[in-house]
Amino acid sequence: MSKQDKFRQQVKSFYNVIVVSFVLVLIIGVLGITYMMDPSAFSFKGDTPNSEVISTTREDDDWDKIENGIHLRTGFKDGEGLMTVVNNCTNCHSAQLVIQNRMSEERWIETIRWMQKTQNLWDLGPNEKIIVNYLVTNYPPKSKGRREALTNIEWFPLEE
Ligand code: HEC
Repeated sequence: MSKQDKFRQQVKSFYNVIVVSFVLVLIIGVLGITYMMDPSAFSFKGDTPNSEVISTTREDDDWDKIENGIHLRTGFKDGEGLMTVVNNCTNCHSAQLVIQNRMSEERWIETIRWMQKTQNLWDLGPNEKIIVNYLVTNYPPKSKGRREALTNIEWFPLEE
């Protein structure tokens, strides 16, 4: 290899280093400027650039959370029509007032009529059936049969 060839090769590899460095600086520069203009462009899945929106969703999830068959916010039992009841029956009084009552279908309807007449409860429309059905299913009257007959009792004969 002549001296000239060697020199040429050196220039060539020096030139390569310059080109590679230039390209690297260019890429880093472009990324840097992009980041400065909009940092969220660099957030990946898992990051929460829009944390407000996401936390609201989480609150909504908790808001109507059901655990062990109980709607945590109100205490109502989970069941068909739950949300209709929650939306119509917890506006004026707590759910507890509903839950502590156990009634037959007729009595639940009577209670609703009474609230409509005297407490400004609105016309429930087709929801009434859903609500009454939920209430009778989940809060039916407690069995109110007589206690079992007593056995093995010594009766005192009444004296005349
Ligand atoms: C417009 C307001 C309002 C809404 C809505 C409402 N109630 Fe009431 N409710 C009342 C008032 C007022 C009382 C009486 C509260 C008291 O006695 O302290 C009451 C009392 C009750 C009672 C107790 C009745 C008694 O005899 O003690 C039950 C049970 C009841 N509501 C169930 C419901 C159900 C079920 C719904 C959903 C369909 C509902 N309420 C929706 C106003 C309302």
